[in-house]
Amino acid sequence: MNFSGVQVAAFLKQVNEQWGYDFSDYAEASLQRRLQRCMDLAHVSSLEDLGRRIFTDRKAFDWFLSHFTVNVTEMFRDPDFYACLRTQILPVLETFPNINIWHAGCSSGEEVYSLAILLHEHNLLSRCRIYATDLNPANLEKARAGIIPVAMLKEYIHNYRQSGGIGEFSQYYTARYGNAIFSKELRDRITFLQHNLVADGVFNEFQLILCRNVFIYFNRALQEKVLELFVESLSPLGYLALGTKEAIMAPNVQRRFETVSKLKIFRKKY
Ligand SMILES: C[S@@+](CC[C@H](N)C(=O)[O-])C[C@H]1O[C@@H](n2cnc3c(N)ncnc32)[C@H](O)[C@@H]1O
Repeated sequence: MNFSGVQVAAFLKQVNEQWGYDFSDYAEASLQRRLQRCMDLAHVSSLEDLGRRIFTDRKAFDWFLSHFTVNVTEMFRDPDFYACLRTQILPVLETFPNINIWHAGCSSGEEVYSLAILLHEHNLLSRCRIYATDLNPANLEKARAGIIPVAMLKEYIHNYRQSGGIGEFSQYYTARYGNAIFSKELRDRITFLQHNLVADGVFNEFQLILCRNVFIYFNRALQEKVLELFVESLSPLGYLALGTKEAIMAPNVQRRFETVSKLKIFRKKY
């Protein structure tokens, strides 16, 4: 079913007024799919019924939030991207006195643990402070726990090897009752925080910002706004990594960056 623009706008306005989350600049097609999905999961047949559940009950809203955002992620997603980080970006970061990294839209953390492994293998982990943020508290809770199902390991080890990993992957986790928990050494280097890219501002200066597979859910105006936030948050010559299907479109933001790799890695000009 397709909802009218007016219905969607009215629903999102009430979400914002009631709970302070502004989704009005999310991409239209994705909004339609996610709202329909939440209705199906809640077994209701109209946006009004969904609203009646979530506008008065915080727990119901938290449930909505955790299903409304697309949370799909994996370790070493796009192994070529991680190979490029290894060969082109980390050797430069190594020369910086401070290395602050912001992983925005980290979902349940698989990508940020992949990055921590890379940093460990380049002897940089102890010099880095990694902030991993997401809008969604349920994702952050999972990410903080640092637990993944053992059943996923085969695929993740394959991605790791494809990305140029030559270590023993088993050194990074302990397996217990069908789950793998990442080592304390990795977990201790990552600070997980709630940060909403729509509403929250700069909170530090970074040498590398990764925000992959998040912009595809935003409309053009919101993408530009968030890119401005990244420009302000990056140190001169800092790096920005986007998802493979994402781009810097606005000319006024484009001219602040040079392209480092077609794998959507950009560098802020001095
Ligand atoms: C598809 S996942 C991408 C995860 C990971 N970066 C990756 O590429 O595998 C998109 C993530 O963006 C988060 N997100 C969506 N809107 C956001 C916002 N306004 N601020 C921060 N995170 C947001 C979602 O909660 C979700 O965890």
